[in-house]
Amino acid sequence: MKKIGILFGMENTFPQAFVERVNSKNVKGVTAEPVSIEMVQQGKATDYAVIIDRISQDVPFYRAMLKNAAICGTAVINNPFWWSADEKFFNNSLAMSVGVPVPKTVLLPSKERPDDTTEKSFRNLKMMDWDSILEYVGSYPVWMKPHSGGGWKSVYKINNRQELFAAYDETGQLVMMLQEGIEFDQYFRCYALDKGKYLHIMPYEPRNPHHLRYVQDAPPTDPKLLATMQDYLVRLNEGLGYDFNTVEFAVKDGIPYAIDFCNPAPDAELSSVGQANFDWIVENAANMAIEKALAHKDGQMNLTWGNFVKKSLGTPAPSQASATQQPKAKKSTPTKKTKTAKVAKAKKSAKVLEIDTTPVKETLSGAAATKAKKTLLGAIGKGSASKKDDLKQIKGVGPKLEKILNDFGIYNFEQVSKMKAKEYDLVDSLLSAFKGRGKRDDWAGQAKKLK
Ligand SMILES: Nc1ncnc2c1ncn2[C@@H]1O[C@H](COP(=O)(O)OP(=O)(O)O)[C@@H](O)[C@H]1O
Ligand SMILES: [Mg+2]
Repeated sequence: MKKIGILFGMENTFPQAFVERVNSKNVKGVTAEPVSIEMVQQGKATDYAVIIDRISQDVPFYRAMLKNAAICGTAVINNPFWWSADEKFFNNSLAMSVGVPVPKTVLLPSKERPDDTTEKSFRNLKMMDWDSILEYVGSYPVWMKPHSGGGWKSVYKINNRQELFAAYDETGQLVMMLQEGIEFDQYFRCYALDKGKYLHIMPYEPRNPHHLRYVQDAPPTDPKLLATMQDYLVRLNEGLGYDFNTVEFAVKDGIPYAIDFCNPAPDAELSSVGQANFDWIVENAANMAIEKALAHKDGQMNLTWGNFVKKSLGTPAPSQASATQQPKAKKSTPTKKTKTAKVAKAKKSAKVLEIDTTPVKETLSGAAATKAKKTLLGAIGKGSASKKDDLKQIKGVGPKLEKILNDFGIYNFEQVSKMKAKEYDLVDSLLSAFKGRGKRDDWAGQAKKLK
């Protein structure tokens, strides 16, 4: 039985409806319940194949518990490691790197020094040049808000220099960002599940009182704008790796600027989002959780990561190219067929993780290994550590595999380009993992183009 758990705080509608919806689908071998925690023991797996985390941002104990659950094999949504690392300023930089417009933003040193620091701790910091900062972010109004935060806490709309300093003076030890104001004509808040596979775009009016912000009878949105937002939602969430997020867009002159997209426990209360949006999030979160539970494999890492992390680690990020070139269409409730395809896709990505987390040992040893390496280098030529290429540029070769290849004496594209079936077999025979990769990813063909 694969158990799905939900961890939550003050919410009173979404978690309960989510559990009910998963269970009412009667998927064989899958059940849902509120997470129940007793003793949290290091390295000990939980009963849950999947945990939906709605609260660890407020409860550090839960965050630590979730990381332990994750290393023991639970698929935690959202990835607690990534959420511990992410914040709004980095979010904006990532948006720029994947081609999503964001307001011009500057990071400000905190107004007050953090506890236990002195002036000496800031010797690397020059006096702030407010004129240049203001020139970059543009004309008033501008916005000042914490680089890591949410719930509209310490968010300031600033109309002049006096307000700027008055606001800054109130921020204490918070690290703030100063941001270009987007004087928007339209505003949207969007649910993005499973890195943008399921999208729901909601017209939103942030200037209304809370209970009227999700606009109920909005006029239809321009299809071109919708398609652009869908594309941006996929880019952002594939880059960041969030499985449950909201993204806000402020639209000015037809351009959607991403404003707030680090909300991995987004509001889903019925009284706040309204019945239709609530129904959507309950249904689609339930479907996603079921897919993750079905794809879950015991005894292996079941976390998902964004392309940013995958690329930094040198692992291939195959979906990146297609995501940046091609907007994905908005998805409705999955049919049986697409569900199977999605599970298959989830399984496939789990496989990549499986391979990359396997400790790699040489399987041949002693004279047999020496002989195999000699034969290998006999066929492709000797290389030298002093003249090495970045083998990680070959799709499918990460830092781990590069080091192994170097250890075998393979250092450059010239050598790799000469590999054929026999040489791939020799590499495979020397390794306990990564078998079949060279042939599958056509290292030689890739190396020919790279050299
Ligand atoms: N750069 C901006 N331009 C226009 N409005 C903004 C800008 N930044 C924030 N806002 C407004 O302030 C609200 C709160 O800011 P946001 O970044 O969403 O913070 P939080 O994470 O606390 O919700 C947004 O919903 C939006 O209405
Ligand atoms: Mg917000």
